[in-house]
Amino acid sequence: MTASTDRVVIFDTTLRDGEQCPGATMTFEEKLQVASLLDKMGVDVIEAGFPIASNGDFEAVSEIARRADNAIIAGLARAIPGDIARCGEAVRHARRPRIHTFVSTSPIHLAHQMRKTEEQVLEIIAATVAQARNLVDDVEWSAMDATRTSHEYLARAVEAAIKAGATTINLPDTVGYATPDEYRAMFVAMRERVPGADKVTFSTHCHDDLGLAVANSLAGLAGGARQIECTINGIGERAGNAALEEIVMAIRTRGDVLPYETGVESTMLTRISRLVSAATSFPVQYNKAIIGKNAFAHESGIHQDGMLKHNETYEIMTPASVGVTKTSLVMGKHSGRAAFKDKLKALGYELGDNQLQDAFTRFKELADRKKHVYDEDIEALVDNQIASSHDRIKVLSLTVIAGTMGPQSATLTLDIDGVHTTVQAVGNGPVDAIFNAIRRVVPHEATLSLYQVHAVTEGTDAQAEVSVRLEEGDKSVTARGADPDTLVASARAYVAALNKLSVKRGQINAQAAISA
Ligand code: KIV
Ligand code: ZN
Repeated sequence: MTASTDRVVIFDTTLRDGEQCPGATMTFEEKLQVASLLDKMGVDVIEAGFPIASNGDFEAVSEIARRADNAIIAGLARAIPGDIARCGEAVRHARRPRIHTFVSTSPIHLAHQMRKTEEQVLEIIAATVAQARNLVDDVEWSAMDATRTSHEYLARAVEAAIKAGATTINLPDTVGYATPDEYRAMFVAMRERVPGADKVTFSTHCHDDLGLAVANSLAGLAGGARQIECTINGIGERAGNAALEEIVMAIRTRGDVLPYETGVESTMLTRISRLVSAATSFPVQYNKAIIGKNAFAHESGIHQDGMLKHNETYEIMTPASVGVTKTSLVMGKHSGRAAFKDKLKALGYELGDNQLQDAFTRFKELADRKKHVYDEDIEALVDNQIASSHDRIKVLSLTVIAGTMGPQSATLTLDIDGVHTTVQAVGNGPVDAIFNAIRRVVPHEATLSLYQVHAVTEGTDAQAEVSVRLEEGDKSVTARGADPDTLVASARAYVAALNKLSVKRGQINAQAAISA
């Protein structure tokens, strides 16, 4: 896609750079859900994964490619013929496929990681970009660690990629090192120096190690870039990537100094943020710009006074513009299926008949136990249902004895592939007893590195949402469980993490088979 002067191509890499960060693993179904919403909200390019990394990644990229209605579907490939071929196979089902291939260009990467000379890397660029161009018309080439590469060598590398047929040139700040002035100047230099630069779209890709990812991305636009690579909630390697929601709202709110436009429907930002947070089990910090819980909260008296008189006194954008609706009371236990379906639609969910029936049954159970059911309750309920729909291990029942007279004990029944097993275990507190019981039914070496509880809404009958992270060797997964009973939510979260871990183990085995 070649961008017009002020139209900025939004390239979302939540499913690749985002999912790559420790603990953010998403299941196949979660990836499809996220991709479908990204497509609906007007993201131009969805980087759906790294097909060579595992069979799971390959399948997810292929299925997202088949299903996408509008967005270009990109897959990532190293500058290795096998990677590029596999990537081409995965994206070929897309209406608009893209191969995104990359190689390092900085002296430090060439000397220590690649152990190649500059000339050898130029040859690799020419050969691999040409191979990708034989498979698809839309090829993006990235100069990894571009911001620590001399302009002289970077210009030669970009020229080689353009000559071989690249249509988008991405200049990443891979290690989050650049300042906005430097980043802008790099794009200006490449566009001035490189023959053919006017025929391609330049792209930014910024990491947030110094907290400058969004500022650098916008500086890239000032330097002539017209594609921004970013992720929902800013998730990604280390400190993360530039946050899509911040980029979109900065451009929308400050059109006076940022004379660009994007195709993203901003009222869907809150919904996608919650979906990604639920799928990765990465909580969004309260004060996160645009989508944090406090982003539109006014606490101090003077601010509240101003807001009551005129909301523009302290609000530069409206909550509605990013899809924040007032927490509304929804149906109670007498509400019907049609009203429930309408509510789901308003919250951005489209469920198949079976899923809808399941969600409705769960909603009725919740409404029986909880006086007021809020939008957030329904979101937690459906997100959990989607995340666990293909789980092999399920919590069937749990009874806990807790209190001042220890030891606390848990009696737990799990369903594993249809077989029910009941065990009893004691522990140092009820959560420890539950986790010990789970370990007795599903023995494993993984260690618990995070246990976090938060209330989905206010009130003592609020649903608890528990996040659990398990680590096993270099694998790390995070998962959530929700229930008005904190202990049941804890059991569900731990079991959900075990399910994710078993998927991840399968992917790693498949990966070993591919590289063997
Ligand atoms: O940060 C980076 O350089 C990347 C490339 C693979 C584009 O993620
Ligand atoms: Zn990156």
